Amino acid sequence: MIFTRITGTGSYLPGQPVSNQALIALHALDSSDDWISERTGIRARHIAAVGETSSDLAFHACQRALAAAGRSANDVDLIIVATSTPDYIFPSTAALLQKKLGITNGAPAFDVQAVCSGFVYALSVAEKFIRSGSHQCALIVGSEVFSRIMDWSDRGTCVLFGDGAGAVVLEASNSPGVLATALHADGSHADMLSVPGQIRGGQVTGDPFLRMDGQAVFKFAVKVLTEVANEVLHTAGLTVDQLDWLIPHQANVRILQSTAKKLGLPSEKCIVTVDHHGNTSAASIPLALDEAVCQGRVQPGQNLLLEGVGGGFTWGAVLLTF
Ligand code: ACO
Repeated sequence: MIFTRITGTGSYLPGQPVSNQALIALHALDSSDDWISERTGIRARHIAAVGETSSDLAFHACQRALAAAGRSANDVDLIIVATSTPDYIFPSTAALLQKKLGITNGAPAFDVQAVCSGFVYALSVAEKFIRSGSHQCALIVGSEVFSRIMDWSDRGTCVLFGDGAGAVVLEASNSPGVLATALHADGSHADMLSVPGQIRGGQVTGDPFLRMDGQAVFKFAVKVLTEVANEVLHTAGLTVDQLDWLIPHQANVRILQSTAKKLGLPSEKCIVTVDHHGNTSAASIPLALDEAVCQGRVQPGQNLLLEGVGGGFTWGAVLLTF
């Protein structure tokens, strides 16, 4: 039987941290450090430089993940990038990343668009490629420059997000590995969180900025994150107390705390990076995972539950032994 294991993690944050105070001053926002940190837990985020793209951030994260796995770029036979802020409409950010990494072996490369659930979608898809025997060594990336789709005059959204990238190397293995995955979507909630613009006839039409109903998102997120966590635990035959770490999408510290509480998981077992990363959408889970690995908190053999929810709406989880 073929199993799949994460053999290396890496991440990259552009530039220096931008504090709430600095962001408020930069965009003349009618807001305060107290409001942002009390309502969201966010104290700082990173913002990519002008011209720095998702594939640039992904490149650095992937180099670190490959080094951690002891792999060279041309060992990779599958590349999946989760992003909602691609470099171009096409080619895919994954194809651009392949070139930047110098991968010349013809490995398939494609993007997954599931907003903040993108990384768990990409990981779940790659796991099925590897378990089928068709591929052996996948590079799975979440990379975002959400600063590009912020309306900097909308204080209800622009303080929440940040830029960054995280990556894992996922390989075929004789032992597990990924224990269970679950993916879901419900397009009837498309308007709750969206960037409802498009390019038509050389012009941007509609609204090219992120819009959301924050309170509706909050309630929906806690509900489905709890459900999908229980779903993968049930599938794998594990109980909550057998989990070492919950690594959720980092949207808001109150969403993370509420989800952990509803699951009956001590809050110390929930990895939190939203305070210094902000919400980096598809990048947030691999960024949090890599930080916890680098800090020595996540150790080989531990059970991790990765889960995300995002626009679409989409949501999903991956339960694995690291
Ligand atoms: N600074 C100061 N005041 C603000 C700010 C700000 N940055 N943003 C909004 N306010 C004001 C509002 O205008 C409103 O003022 P009013 O009462 O005069 O009308 C007041 O604060 C309360 O606004 P609410 O929207 O009711 O505030 P709430 O407590 O719901 O917090 C928040 C808003 C933080 C967005 C919350 O709803 C939330 O966290 N929702 C989850 C959304 C989220 O995390 N989205 C991320 C993307 S989705 C994802 O990743 C899954």
